[in-house]
Amino acid sequence: MIPGDGIGPEVAQAAARAVDATGVSIAWEVAELNSAIIEKMGQVLPPHVIDSLERTRVGLKGPVTTPIAGGFPSVNVALRKRLDLYANVRPVRSLPGLKTRFSDVKIDMVIFRENTEDLYSGLEHEVVKDVVTSLKVITRTASLRIAHQAFRFASTTGRHKVTAIHKANIMKLADGLFLRCCREVAEVFPKIEYNELIVDNASMQLVMRPETFDILLLPNLYGDIVSDLAAGLVGGLGVVPGANIGEHHAVFEAVHGSAPDIAGKGLANPTALMLSAVMMLIHLGEHEAAARLVSAVESVYAEKLALTPDVGGSSTTTGFTDAVVAKLRA
Ligand code: NAI
Repeated sequence: MIPGDGIGPEVAQAAARAVDATGVSIAWEVAELNSAIIEKMGQVLPPHVIDSLERTRVGLKGPVTTPIAGGFPSVNVALRKRLDLYANVRPVRSLPGLKTRFSDVKIDMVIFRENTEDLYSGLEHEVVKDVVTSLKVITRTASLRIAHQAFRFASTTGRHKVTAIHKANIMKLADGLFLRCCREVAEVFPKIEYNELIVDNASMQLVMRPETFDILLLPNLYGDIVSDLAAGLVGGLGVVPGANIGEHHAVFEAVHGSAPDIAGKGLANPTALMLSAVMMLIHLGEHEAAARLVSAVESVYAEKLALTPDVGGSSTTTGFTDAVVAKLRA
């Protein structure tokens, strides 16, 4: 368990309480990671965090603040690269009874975002004063494996369509390579419908017809941006979970960041991290506990029992968590 900073410790504690209330036996090993520790140790990934993840191979992680336009590099990007957590998987689903601008349609899509390269390679140079380049790296290996993950998931979970999202009309080489890899993998899965959308059009279609999307397959940057857009369709960042999956390790974390505007106020919605914990339980083979936790969270929404302000309620992080735990114990 990496609580992180900002609202991280609040939602991490809530998620751990909910997981424990399912009755599943998890020995939480807590690895603190926040900007104060990073600055003190002078390392983005201190050894106690990496050693713990290397040993347990599974993590539930709260957000960690990254300084903007300077300061240390992103912990999250570093962690994903270090453990080669190449697939970022983010299910975006309407919650029962939750009123949003889009609640008249049923939204149920899963985002597969490549997690290790693209513009997140961090290769930036000031060529001469006031002229900066930032390198976008796309490789066949990384594109093929994220495409495989998306199609394999589609075929094993009964989903029917994968949409690759790109800007290959402009970045003909980089996004062109990504698309060629997606097409290659699509041919291996003839039963799964495959289509492509340019990222600007995809953004508009997501708002106009969100119910028509099934699985979205994207390079890193578009995946990051489209994830927050998609979160906005189903109630915001407080409700969308995620998983970073590699060959040997998996780290589960919400789409949202450390939310400094509400940190420490008891207002953070722990749903996103609780649903990330559900993904972790499934990964660990604890299917029954996972199903019970999803059902408890959904009941609290359906009955509007103790919702946090971001989703129209007036409860607190603890109030929501108490309601979920009460459902699990009932
Ligand atoms: P953010 O996701 O932290 O917040 C955006 C907005 O959503 C804010 O108004 C916030 O109050 C709201 N929000 C987010 N999570 C919420 C929750 N659980 N319940 C209720 N409201 C919630 O994005 P922002 O402000 O752009 O980033 C803040 C910091 O987080 C930055 O340092 C950024 O680098 C970091 N970050 C870390 C991530 C990670 O650790 N995986 C992911 C994204 C951002």
